[in-house]
Amino acid sequence: MNFPVDAFAGIETPFYYYDVALLERTLAAAQREAARYDGFHVHYAIKANFNPRLLKIVAQSGMGADCVSGGEVRAAMDAGIPAAKVVFAGVGKTDKEIALALDAGIFCFNVESVPEIEAIEELAAQRGVVARVAVRINPNVGAHTHANITTGLAENKFGINYEQIDEVIDVIEAKSHIELTGLHFHIGSQILVMDDFIALCGRINELQELLHDTRGLVLPHINVGGGLGIRYDAPDKYPIPDFELYFATYANNLKLHPGQQVHFELGRSIVAQCGTLIARATYVKRGTCKQFIILDAGMNDLVRPALYDAYHRIENLTSKKPDGVYDVVGPVCESSDVFCKDRRIPETARGDIMAIRSAGAYGEAMAFGYNCREIPKAVLSTEL
Ligand code: LLP
Repeated sequence: MNFPVDAFAGIETPFYYYDVALLERTLAAAQREAARYDGFHVHYAIKANFNPRLLKIVAQSGMGADCVSGGEVRAAMDAGIPAAKVVFAGVGKTDKEIALALDAGIFCFNVESVPEIEAIEELAAQRGVVARVAVRINPNVGAHTHANITTGLAENKFGINYEQIDEVIDVIEAKSHIELTGLHFHIGSQILVMDDFIALCGRINELQELLHDTRGLVLPHINVGGGLGIRYDAPDKYPIPDFELYFATYANNLKLHPGQQVHFELGRSIVAQCGTLIARATYVKRGTCKQFIILDAGMNDLVRPALYDAYHRIENLTSKKPDGVYDVVGPVCESSDVFCKDRRIPETARGDIMAIRSAGAYGEAMAFGYNCREIPKAVLSTEL
């Protein structure tokens, strides 16, 4: 990525820098590849990045939204994403959040338990409306990714297990203010092995066959969730994920009934590569066995390395010197405030501008204020 380093020099660090042209190209690629197949719809998973200025750009692409809180439903509406394209998931939707989504008239609730179905019925009845729901099924498919971001196993809190599906559908069919319109799945995040998605397709096919054979049930909407990963190791070589392969994998492996619509909830693959956390080296500290680059950005600005041991490329945008070997750390009073260990990075000096790459997804969105630190600002390439 060509960073406007001269412009960065005048901006207080740390901040998130977003390359709007790359975001637009990524959105266009995802939409174009999905449009090759009849009835494929992409919903952007707002949790990955809810920056309102980015959401407006997402809205312009025509994507819908995948929300997991009332706040996200509101953010989708504020960005101009039509309610008819909004899906709302989450194991713990409160009455207030359900009411907000019903009043907005969203496309679908992805429901995850019987008590949640009861709550939606009650609130929809009070309003005299019918809520459309998809049952989130726990497909019990493992994904080759970090344990903290695997969601589709029976031991995870998400979704309804296979053995309980019949009972849950019975409950829904007895309700007068709920219409069952679909099935929802999600196996995890940062998935680069298409075999995992193929395994999910297999489970969906089995379930569709079972529901058809035992109940004569064919639902109009199949939501396969998100999870397409990105190349954290090589952001410049792979700035846009392989959406062609991703959608083709589903098109080739899902057995659909005529007219069935397929929904995708993509977060990371849309926004990760366009975002970079820009920081300055506050100090370079030479210990006895280590050299540390101490940044003015910390785990509160980008928590992924501390929380998931996640790899992000780190570049020195100022130095052209030969590499040294460094631990890059933040200023926060926690030993886990480490971005990387023993990494080869050009020799760094106090004041150098550093780029932590592939930080557009789950970066700014997960920032927090520990140690009375400010939430980092966002700078869009179009503003410079
Ligand atoms: N749909 C559902 C139901 C989800 O739970 C998620 C992500 C997505 C869609 C979007 O997944 P994506 O396309 O972004 O992989 N903070 C973690 C990732 C947590 C993902 C949570 N759920 C990280 O930084 O890696």
